[in-house]
Amino acid sequence: MAQAATEGNAPFRYHEISDTEFEYLRDLIYREAGINLTPQKKLLAQTRLGKLMRRRNISGYEELFSMIQDDKSGLALEMVIDAISTNHTFFFREDAHFKLLNEEIIPDILSKKKTNKQLIRLWSAGCSSGEEPYTAIITFLEAQRNKLIPPDTQLEVVGTDISKEILDKAAAGLYPAEVVENLDYNLKKKYFQKGRGSYHKYVRIKPSVNEKVTFRRHNLLFPFSDFGMFDIIICRNVMIYFDQQTKQKVLDNMLQSMHTDSFLIIGHSESLNNIRHSLKTYRPTIFRPKEGF
Ligand SMILES: C[S@@+](CC[C@H](N)C(=O)[O-])C[C@H]1O[C@@H](n2cnc3c(N)ncnc32)[C@H](O)[C@@H]1O
Repeated sequence: MAQAATEGNAPFRYHEISDTEFEYLRDLIYREAGINLTPQKKLLAQTRLGKLMRRRNISGYEELFSMIQDDKSGLALEMVIDAISTNHTFFFREDAHFKLLNEEIIPDILSKKKTNKQLIRLWSAGCSSGEEPYTAIITFLEAQRNKLIPPDTQLEVVGTDISKEILDKAAAGLYPAEVVENLDYNLKKKYFQKGRGSYHKYVRIKPSVNEKVTFRRHNLLFPFSDFGMFDIIICRNVMIYFDQQTKQKVLDNMLQSMHTDSFLIIGHSESLNNIRHSLKTYRPTIFRPKEGF
C-alpha cells in the first residue's frame, strides 16, 4: 500500500507492507537466500524496500513482486536481496581470530602440508564489502614481517557474498576515511591510500592487498565446488540470519570445500549447536575435522 505525503515540494511515497505482502517476501527471501525474515524484521524490510522502490520509481509491492516474477535474468530478485541483506562489517572485527590465525592456525596447516607447501587458501564466506578478507591479508603480511610465518608462504583469499552490489564495493576497496580512523597509524600508512580531490574523504586499500583477493558472487545455499579446497573458511556473522535447517545446509556445503587439515571459523555470537557435523572444537568458534574426516 503506498501513501503520498509531502517532503519539501516533492511527494514522498511511503510504502506500507501488508501482512500478505510480507509473507510473500519472507517466503521468497527464505527460498532464494536462506535469510530468515522473522516478523520482528517487518518494519526493517519495509524501510529498506521503501527506499529501493523510491529510488527505482517502482509504484509499490505489487509492481515489485511482478517485476521479480517476469524477470528471467534474476536481476530484479538480486536487487531485492541486495536491499534486504544486512552488510554490516568493519576492519579487524573480532580480531582475536586473526591473531590465532597467524600465530597458530597457519603454522599448523603449513606443518602438515604435503603438496603446494607454501600456498594457504582462505575463503571469506559472506565477506560483505571486503573488510574481512582484507583484514586477513593485512594481518598475514604483518605476521610475515614479524617472522611468525615463513617469507615464502603465499595467502590466496577468495571473498564471496550473495549481494552483487556489495561485492562491487569490496572489489573497489574504497571506503569512507572514518572506517580506518581508529586503526594503527602504521597500518593505515602501509595498506591504505588517501583519496585526493573529490575523494579526499575516502581511503582506498592498496593494490598490493587488493590484488590478493578474488571476489565472486556465491549463494551459500549451494556448494562452492568450482573453487577447489580451502585450508581456512571464515564464515562469520552470516549464519545468524539463518534458521537451523538452513545452517545445516550451509555447513554441509562448506564441509565439501574442506580437507582433513582445514579450519572453519564462525562469529563469536554464533554456534554450531544442534547441527550435525564431523568437526571438533579447536577453540570456541573455531573448528577442524575429526580424525578420519
Ligand atoms: C553481516 S555481513 C558479515 C560480514 C563479515 N563476514 C563480518 O563478519 O563482518 C553478512 C553477509 O552475509 C551475506 N549473505 C546473506 N545470505 C547469504 C547467502 N545465502 N549466501 C551468501 N552470502 C549471504 C550478506 O549479503 C552480508 O554481506
